Amino acid sequence: MNPYLVLDRARDLGLAYLQDVAMRHVGGTATQASLRAALGGPLPEGPDEPIRVIEHLAAAADPGIVATVGPRYFGFVTGGAVPVTVAADWLASVWDQNGALYVMSPASAVMEDIVSAWLVDLLHLPRGSSVGFVTGCHMANFTCLAAARHEVLRRAGWNVEAQGLQRAPRITVIAGGEVHISAMGALRLLGFGADEVILVPVDEQGRMRADGLEGALANVSGPLIVCAQAGNVSTGASDPIGRLADLVHAKGGWLHVDGAFGLWAAAVPELAPQVDGLARADSWATDAHKWLNVPYDSGLAIVADAAPHRAAMGLKASYLQRGNAEERIGMDWVPESSRRSRVIPLYALIRSLGRTGITDLVRRNCALARRMAERLARDAGVRILNEVVLNQVLVQFDGGASNAGDTTGDVIARVQADGTCWAGGATWQGHQVMRISVSNWSTTEDDIDQSADAILRCFHEARS
Ligand SMILES: Cc1ncc(COP(=O)(O)O)c(C=O)c1O
Repeated sequence: MNPYLVLDRARDLGLAYLQDVAMRHVGGTATQASLRAALGGPLPEGPDEPIRVIEHLAAAADPGIVATVGPRYFGFVTGGAVPVTVAADWLASVWDQNGALYVMSPASAVMEDIVSAWLVDLLHLPRGSSVGFVTGCHMANFTCLAAARHEVLRRAGWNVEAQGLQRAPRITVIAGGEVHISAMGALRLLGFGADEVILVPVDEQGRMRADGLEGALANVSGPLIVCAQAGNVSTGASDPIGRLADLVHAKGGWLHVDGAFGLWAAAVPELAPQVDGLARADSWATDAHKWLNVPYDSGLAIVADAAPHRAAMGLKASYLQRGNAEERIGMDWVPESSRRSRVIPLYALIRSLGRTGITDLVRRNCALARRMAERLARDAGVRILNEVVLNQVLVQFDGGASNAGDTTGDVIARVQADGTCWAGGATWQGHQVMRISVSNWSTTEDDIDQSADAILRCFHEARS
């Protein structure tokens, strides 16, 4: 039998899933025990028929699949996957290209060059910025901060890649009090202890205060890295990046911007003032699997000056064949060697939507987040705790005589069990909140209205 026919079956099952995804219980209905029973069993002793394997996989996993690609998944900051990107991702798997070296996949290397230039154009970043195609914003933060570490030490006469950190000049590392945990994780991997990072006070929306940074810098000299943020994971608010850039550069430091989703404000004219001065930073980390709605995993590490980026990441070995200087070496820009060619779905996304399609997607999600906030706020027991400047909404449910935190936690649990939509929780400035993140290309006003009704129904059940 033709061994490739199994792909046909997977295509049919995938299509059936996507056509029904908007009708599913958003969170999935399985228990861990039922999934273990359906998927587990002893180690298979021998081969099985591939089509049977795929059919079993689809059926057994189905109750434990969360409808994150559906229109009413508002958890974390989760993009869906625009169909053309899924199709391109299938081709990426079929071709099974390795993005490490030009010679391994000339098409992938050329697409990386092309998409790098398109991204820099879309985000209005300095021409010629280098781009690394990584797994997500966490690794993008790592890559950019490694470039920062290289450069601030180089300026102090130290080669960190050769000489390491133990005897290196001390680097002052500063971040906002609302720094995302992945930036801290990246700093940790780079040899900066979390307790050594100076945290600057933030305002009520979580933005780093420029006067706070000014104060923190007063007595700083020598190597300096400052981590700013475009798009707080809770509120969506961005730091005053232009002012921070001036302060950091006056001290000869490096300004990195973590903009997992908030960076995309730069692509939309009416949102761009929120990230004013963005292009004056030295590096930017963002995700494509959030607001660009390509399938997991896809993050982007962008550095204004390619030299420290390549110096921090690049590795050479005699068997890793390099061509001429024009032939892109993908592994020069990421902390990996062999790597999926994850540029392929991104290429398809940009080719398919173009600049206006991408700005419309971001704009539409922001309008839908405002609609959600307005509909929920019509209920006297609901408070929206953030200014809805992007796609994030923080909701607190008033328990009346009972505790608001407990009520909000109860509403979140009921919403997740109800399955009309999915929203998670967090604490914001000491309050338990429901987080709603509208990041999916397929969400409509009707999805928002259905979801708001379900959330309010859960709230009233929790109070009764
Ligand atoms: C501001 C910020 N930075 C970094 C990340 C981490 O992104 P990822 O999980 O894609 O690595 C997130 C995720 O939500 C984020 O909001």
